Amino acid sequence: MEAVRLTGVMGARVDGIDVRTLDDEGLAELRALVCEHEVLVVSGQALTPYEQVEFSHRLGPAADSPFIEPSADHPEVIRVLKEAKDGNAFNFGGAWHSDFSFQPSPPSFTVLHAIDLPPWGGDTCFSSMTAAWDALPAQQKEDLLAYRGVHTARDAYSPRMQAVHSGLSGMNIVCDESAHDVTLHPLVRVHPETGRTVLFYNRAYVRDLVGPPDDEKKRLMEWLHLHTTDARFGYRHRWSPGDLVIWDNRSTQHYALNDYAGFRRELHRTTVAGETPIPA
Ligand code: SIN
Repeated sequence: MEAVRLTGVMGARVDGIDVRTLDDEGLAELRALVCEHEVLVVSGQALTPYEQVEFSHRLGPAADSPFIEPSADHPEVIRVLKEAKDGNAFNFGGAWHSDFSFQPSPPSFTVLHAIDLPPWGGDTCFSSMTAAWDALPAQQKEDLLAYRGVHTARDAYSPRMQAVHSGLSGMNIVCDESAHDVTLHPLVRVHPETGRTVLFYNRAYVRDLVGPPDDEKKRLMEWLHLHTTDARFGYRHRWSPGDLVIWDNRSTQHYALNDYAGFRRELHRTTVAGETPIPA
């Protein structure tokens, strides 16, 4: 399997394979490529929802996906959908985040398959939390190692956010009080498959920190957001029909751009269960 790098820090692309027919060795190779490059674009796939679920299962069991009603026929598939008539509605994934990091064991991988694309726009931006960590000076690393992130879905899926999500006519997102639950994760974690150290931070779900002095938290969180989403750590994916993009939520954040008002965009998403983050 030949992977072509897409930037100097993250992302790779594989052409000429069919993920449905990978043998165990091929699958292990693909998994290692995702972990190494953090985002892997596999071009030219044509998976039915059932085939996408089968492929995802080979990466691991399905993750639990709260708040978002899945496809009626395929309970493990989320149809990430903005209809043309939804105009400028807030789009799903339209804030920097790592999928469901508020869960005690957040997802390892997400698999997103292009089904229907706008003529332009709707790119997905990724940022490498490995590169963001590596770029820090030693003293700052030392400080951050002692901190934990307070992850919660409260500013995304609590009932007061319902109106924001209800602008998407093709997705049923049901906000509820469980979004107020909080989970503490190390701010710096060790990737369980590569052994690399990553900054496990994203502004959508990390809403507080444990460790820094109270009067520094707000400034530090704002700085963490700016640092971790800096363009030098990123890759921006321009979708083509048939793309299957697999990313590692343990070492990345992503953000779906919302610049295609008046056009339809549909992708099928499956997520793979992860593990409790290991502190660095
Ligand atoms: C997501 O955040 O899972 C969706 C990303 C996208 O639609 O590009």
